Amino acid sequence: MNDLKEVVAKVEEEVKKRFDGEGTGHDWWHIDRVRRLSVNIAKEEGADLFVVELAALLHDVTDHKLFQGTPEEGRGLLLQIMAEAGCDDLVAEPVLGIVDGVSYKGAGVEDIPLPIEGQVVRDADRLDAMGAIGIARAFAFGGSRHRLLYDPTHPPVFHSSFAHYRQSQAPTINHFYEKLLLLKDRLQTPTAQKMALHRHQFMEQFLNEFYAEWEGER
Ligand code: ADP
Ligand code: NI
Repeated sequence: MNDLKEVVAKVEEEVKKRFDGEGTGHDWWHIDRVRRLSVNIAKEEGADLFVVELAALLHDVTDHKLFQGTPEEGRGLLLQIMAEAGCDDLVAEPVLGIVDGVSYKGAGVEDIPLPIEGQVVRDADRLDAMGAIGIARAFAFGGSRHRLLYDPTHPPVFHSSFAHYRQSQAPTINHFYEKLLLLKDRLQTPTAQKMALHRHQFMEQFLNEFYAEWEGER
């Protein structure tokens, strides 16, 4: 295998190209934040830093919202990006397994078990959906789908299948109850669990403020 730094730099360049101009909260800077969070968490948890960094860089390349091909085509694309960067199969295989298991698929849909490297990247991706950045991303995503900010007559839903979760047209505030406020209890690494506390509190504070303003109380 080529020099590890060089492999990472090549994968980074390819991913950057693919995310150029994405405007729904899945832009390059999301990937970059998840990479930084992942590497920081991995150091605390003793996970393999190289596998973690590559999986973080690649985790959204074949996301269903961005990639139109089949799951097999998705795996093929990831293998191709890694091979072209000079990565051998010993690393490419675990990275594929992680990318498959990262995504949140609904409140009632269980996460698949992942090795520590995968737990780290999944936790980092979830942290980036929480806190101030998570709030900003949720409304950016909602706006891109022409969703209302809030509709008091439209209650949140507990999605027990991915298909159902994916089809939701609900206002963005509902997403807090369908995903964002549930995330702190769906993190696996103690390091991310600790980081999540402040982000979680901040979202609760935001919602209290939002409802008070909605009622004209502040
Ligand atoms: P991830 O990359 O963490 O798996 P998703 O692909 O589900 O996250 O979503 C990307 C971003 O868009 C996240 O910040 C997420 O919370 C937000 N998002 C996803 N679905 C919705 C929705 N229905 N309403 C508002 N925001 C959403
Ligand atoms: Ni992501």
